[in-house]
Amino acid sequence: MSHIDHDIPSTPGKFKMEKSSYMNRIRWHYSSLAKLTFWSFVLFLGLILVFFFKSPTSTSSPLPSDLSRRSLRTYSWGGPAWEKRVRASSRTRSRNGLSVLVTGAAGFVGTHISAALKRRGDGVLGLDNFNDYYDPSLKRARQALLERSGVFIVEGDINDIALLKKLFEVVAFTHVMHLAAQAGVRYAMENPSSYVHSNIAGLVNILEVCKSANPQPAIVWASSSSVYGLNTKVPFSEKDRTDQPASLYAATKKAGEEIAHTYNHIYGLSLTGLRFFTVYGPWGRPDMAYFFFTKDILKGKSIPIFEAANHGTVARDFTYIDDIVKGCLAALDTAEKSTGSGGKKKGPAQLRVFNLGNTSPVPVSDLVSILERLLKVKAKRSVTKMPRNGDVQFTHANISSAQRELGYKPTTDLQTGLKKFVRWYLSYYDSGKKSAQ
Ligand SMILES: NC(=O)c1ccc[n+]([C@@H]2O[C@H](COP(=O)([O-])OP(=O)(O)OC[C@H]3O[C@@H](n4cnc5c(N)ncnc54)[C@H](O)[C@@H]3O)[C@@H](O)[C@H]2O)c1
Repeated sequence: MSHIDHDIPSTPGKFKMEKSSYMNRIRWHYSSLAKLTFWSFVLFLGLILVFFFKSPTSTSSPLPSDLSRRSLRTYSWGGPAWEKRVRASSRTRSRNGLSVLVTGAAGFVGTHISAALKRRGDGVLGLDNFNDYYDPSLKRARQALLERSGVFIVEGDINDIALLKKLFEVVAFTHVMHLAAQAGVRYAMENPSSYVHSNIAGLVNILEVCKSANPQPAIVWASSSSVYGLNTKVPFSEKDRTDQPASLYAATKKAGEEIAHTYNHIYGLSLTGLRFFTVYGPWGRPDMAYFFFTKDILKGKSIPIFEAANHGTVARDFTYIDDIVKGCLAALDTAEKSTGSGGKKKGPAQLRVFNLGNTSPVPVSDLVSILERLLKVKAKRSVTKMPRNGDVQFTHANISSAQRELGYKPTTDLQTGLKKFVRWYLSYYDSGKKSAQ
């Protein structure tokens, strides 16, 4: 038996070989070898074409295994059609318009800011990983809303350095509005690594790419009122201490402020941190009390109303989304240019931190009373001792600095803002078409 016999496939029926001459077998062998070579070549060519048309394609780099399931998703991006959409979305309508990369654009605040920037003629490109911290279908609905006004949201993670570099290669962004983060105070006890991933590693990644960009953009980013932690002096002023965070979320936001200082100091990046105070409104976040209270009141479920030690009132400085948007736009408009280029500092750059609140804290029990009136349903209240899970007893903003430097002046009280929220909520979840999870 020749060695050729061994190479002949022996699938019954497929290659039925009659006893034939040696030459026939050789001929057969060469023709099947030719076929095999031909089809391998076609397959190879196909693979090259797929790579060519999808290039540069990235799957976000593998992440440490302790990260949440949602952080491990991969995204594909790149190609001429994708770049065209990126460019079109970022294009300004006027010569002096800003070209802004908005991270967390499918989020609550990100959607409102992206829409407002686009409305006034700025170029806006969104970036979001559409994670499932809360119902992703709400993020998709916000995406559809932005799509209709000409804002494209790139699906990807802020930790994907190749993607970020590509975005800066395609567009010379003048500004970055950085809102992508793992939000929520209580969830930090359940999934701490998601906070490190998005709020620390992700922020550093954004700053790394911004510092190397030429020109460097100015950056405005979301910190949080939670950095005031266990402070008791009210109202909270930017000059107060912020070294007693009560949650990991707060600690990551505080770390972000220190990291911002470093990048400003070493690389001349212009950086403005905004400490938002309990933002609420239409298209809001389902994990926040005003949102799930509305859902539970309508379902007849009892709602927990926390009470601090000694029957102390728990209160929040609720701030309506439109007021926050005005503050963010003013921060972008007053941001000075970064002074560095290509990773080298050329001179001192602007570094700012502002409170964006409403200056009138409202007890959570009053929030429930307003919702009862608007929904025309009596709530089943269950007064409970506040658990020690990261929440603080009250927040109250001193906004004089934002007033002076940004012209920030909130105008919506809780009653008026909640009316707009409830109207949106009822129409969004109308007739059971969508269910609030
Ligand atoms: N809403 C508030 O009351 C409030 C208060 C203080 C601070 N903030 C801060 O404001 C910002 C916006 O908050 P929001 O209420 O709109 O929250 P949100 O959760 O609705 O929006 C954040 C968005 O970022 C995206 N995201 C998260 N991690 C990401 C990652 N690694 N890569 C890409 N995208 C990612 C999420 O998918 C989400 O769409 C956050 O930084 C938050 O910490 C909000």
